Amino acid sequence: MATTPTSKRGTWNTKLGFILAAAGSAVGLGNIWGFPTQVADNGGAAFILIYLLCCLIVGFPVMVAELTIGRRTQKNPVGAFKALSNGNPFAALIGYWGVLCGVMILSFYVVISGWTLAYVFEEILFYFGQEGWAAYFGDLGNGPKNAIFTLFFMVLTVLIVTGGVSQGIERATKALMPILLAILVILIVYIFTLEGAMDGVAMYVMPDFSTVTGGLILSALGQAFFSLSLGMGALITYGSYLNKKQNIVESAAYVTIFDIGIAIIAGLLVIPAMFVAQAGGVQIFNPETGALFSSTTLVFDVLPEMFHNVGGLIGMLLGVTFFILLGLAALTSSISLLEVPVSYVIDEHNIRRKKAAWLIGGIVGAIGVLVSFELGLIDLFVYIFNEIGLPLGGLMICIFLGYFWKTENALLEMKDGYETVETSNFAPIWSIFIKYISPVLIALVLASVVWGLIAG
Ligand code: ALA
Repeated sequence: MATTPTSKRGTWNTKLGFILAAAGSAVGLGNIWGFPTQVADNGGAAFILIYLLCCLIVGFPVMVAELTIGRRTQKNPVGAFKALSNGNPFAALIGYWGVLCGVMILSFYVVISGWTLAYVFEEILFYFGQEGWAAYFGDLGNGPKNAIFTLFFMVLTVLIVTGGVSQGIERATKALMPILLAILVILIVYIFTLEGAMDGVAMYVMPDFSTVTGGLILSALGQAFFSLSLGMGALITYGSYLNKKQNIVESAAYVTIFDIGIAIIAGLLVIPAMFVAQAGGVQIFNPETGALFSSTTLVFDVLPEMFHNVGGLIGMLLGVTFFILLGLAALTSSISLLEVPVSYVIDEHNIRRKKAAWLIGGIVGAIGVLVSFELGLIDLFVYIFNEIGLPLGGLMICIFLGYFWKTENALLEMKDGYETVETSNFAPIWSIFIKYISPVLIALVLASVVWGLIAG
């Protein structure tokens, strides 16, 4: 593992290795499942335009902030805020909050990821006429089955994280990301040849601004946060493994663009696929309300139906590749989520990587087993740690960086790898976003959550 002169911590071996690893963290269930579902639920192209704005106005500035904090301190989120505030316990709370969100999000993320693995078996068994077994693997409410796949996915995640920064995470994501892209493109080409696909494309590219409401804008902002892996400590942690030669601004731009790109490409697959399924007789939209019938389980309810309708070997292969693809994307995200608490335990409690990964993996796996049997916990955890937790973390990061650590100090750190940053146009624009625009927008997201609570 490569090391920097200033630290014995691992670092990313190459510039591309870091960008792919960070993009792997960002690209996950959020892009391939969450984004297309939100697009379908929120009127199509108009949502996409607003989502893009949210990624650029809030996501990109906060990503630069997280990576800069990580690289400056070369520490986990808790250690990072302690270091930048001379041990102030309130600042450390920002880091603890990120670690907690990372752990709790991972505990349901592994359950949903487990579903994707189970559906690989469902597709194969269905093809071979084993409908009873296929139904078993496709039963999302089967606790013991969910628990087995959850633990299997957790073990996969732990095994990669025990490999460390360059050997495990970087190598795994370097191999996985290009495969992911290739499979997506192959599936899109195929889906476009099927009846109904063009209705999906029309929804995807023709904006209907009459659907835009305050709620839609806030959904887009929340989706941007989750999808870009912000507020959960992941990019502070990945930033802590960055060497001083890397241009943080450029890297963040690549990761943001890559994450947006994968979401747009995934939507180009899933939205037409929904309409293909509809043309095949599967009910997707409620004809009276126009809303999706099953927004939370759409991928797992509707797409297997479509693959079965396509039928034969091609239908099976499409299904298997799609769910492997979802599983791979989820794995590169779950790695980064586990790395947050693992780096915290390594740095702050002096525990070796292997032991730390199995210890935290065991705790998260145990919560995941509980979630496997009590699926209602997913909604609860999403609500507390995703919808409230991530924007809250992001808001605290903006306030801390803008008003306590100061953007001038962050820009000094960015100079390594981007010599002219202080005199560039980026510097004043980014500072204004971090101090004013991003926190105000994030505060609006939180206000809407509070408003939702009050209004019931
Ligand atoms: N950013 C990750 C995702 O989109 C967590 O799934």
